[in-house]
Amino acid sequence: MPENKSFHMSPEDFRRHGYEVIDWITEYYKNIESFPVLSQVQPGEIRSALPATPPQRGESFETILNDVNKIILPGVTHWQSPNFFAYFPANASAPAILGDLLSSGLGVQGMLWATSPACTELETHVLDWLVDMLGLPEKFKSSSTGGGVIQDTASSSTLCAMLAARERATNFRTNESGCDGKLVAYTSSQAHSSVEKAVKIAGIGKNNLRLINVDERFAMRPELLAGQIKKDKEAGLIPFFVCATVGTTSSNAIDPVEIIGRICKEENLWLHVDAAMSGTATLCPEFRFIHNGIELADSYSFNPHKWMFTNFDCNCFYVADRATLIKTLSILPEYLKNQATESGSVFDYRDWHIQLGRRFRSLKLWFVIRHYGVEGLQFHIRRHVELAQQFATWVQEDERFELAVPPPLNLVCFRLKSGDAPNKQLLERLNNSGKMYLTHTVLNGKFTLRLCVGQTNTEERHVREVWRMIQNSVS
Ligand SMILES: Cc1ncc(COP(=O)(O)O)c(C=O)c1O
Repeated sequence: MPENKSFHMSPEDFRRHGYEVIDWITEYYKNIESFPVLSQVQPGEIRSALPATPPQRGESFETILNDVNKIILPGVTHWQSPNFFAYFPANASAPAILGDLLSSGLGVQGMLWATSPACTELETHVLDWLVDMLGLPEKFKSSSTGGGVIQDTASSSTLCAMLAARERATNFRTNESGCDGKLVAYTSSQAHSSVEKAVKIAGIGKNNLRLINVDERFAMRPELLAGQIKKDKEAGLIPFFVCATVGTTSSNAIDPVEIIGRICKEENLWLHVDAAMSGTATLCPEFRFIHNGIELADSYSFNPHKWMFTNFDCNCFYVADRATLIKTLSILPEYLKNQATESGSVFDYRDWHIQLGRRFRSLKLWFVIRHYGVEGLQFHIRRHVELAQQFATWVQEDERFELAVPPPLNLVCFRLKSGDAPNKQLLERLNNSGKMYLTHTVLNGKFTLRLCVGQTNTEERHVREVWRMIQNSVS
């Protein structure tokens, strides 16, 4: 074999194609409003356009990029469209994209401090910054007993919180000998499905997850929580974990963290607060009321990958007592031993989550915070909330519609008063138009439309146009 034979992309070609990709992304954003927001392809359509077998011989970059346009793009639902109002957002921004690209370029693996010290230290530092930016308690800082780590998703954070809680409740016996079916976890009937997934994975079991009923604003009723804990204890079970939600997925309900926290303290239960999307709102002091009582939490997580202009994946997970989390998840095989770890003076983030390997995700977060500054982030979050509130006013002014619940922040739940069928038809018509993407939920048994304002480039004209189209689509 000739010694200089190589299939790699040359540095010159990398530079050229790199510029092409940046140009491609720039044009994509420029033209994004011309694409149907919700992909219109049928199941199987994308695969049928792909060759059945992989190429034996490498292909030109131009051909590959052409196929992105021809085959991939039609199958993309445009989460970054300013007309994306579905689910919760997964917004992105130019600094985040560039930070992520740099992370790919460096290609480091930050499982241990020693495998890339900057990967660990930047993460610790940025997560400490965020404690101040969100007005979170000092105990979540690395300089205190706690600290923060970037996880892939809020689901993983909830699972890690539950695992640490399980070990705290059983004096680390469960890690040794498994679960005995006695531990009981609590959350509201409106909590995200990731709590149910966590009880399955953590060996708690679905039958040992209590879904506490909610009030008229869909927030957990703490008196029912207290009652259920009492009942479970009387039955010989061991309550150990509560997940409160700040901004539920269906309706953005805010659980009363302070009262729930006091119950948890009295009963010695681990309180995890899931603020997946809405935590970002607390960048603005006027929205920090949603965190009332957060100083009582043992752990907390929010997703910059939802609303803080940081592309997926990026969840910030905080614990008040890192020693418990680390003791729960730490395993040190011979091949990972190193001097820095043995000195005890560094964080090895592999001990803070499920997987071993980890990307340099703090780069994109750092880029975002430095590009926007606190002021810029606050500006755009306030704008989103303002636009959602404006939309809610329009809904209230039209007698055909009603709000399902007053919107606390940037999610509006609304519906036609005329019943489920017309609401379903309306949603289908709107999404089929390609002009916007909205999703639904069911609240108090009624089919309800959700409009969430949180996409990076959504402006007043987009929200105004959505409302105009909604009004005109009602037959
Ligand atoms: C309240 C809440 N918690 C958790 C999640 C799960 O988020 P992730 O995809 O980061 O696991 C969501 C997703 O929308 C959510 O709304």
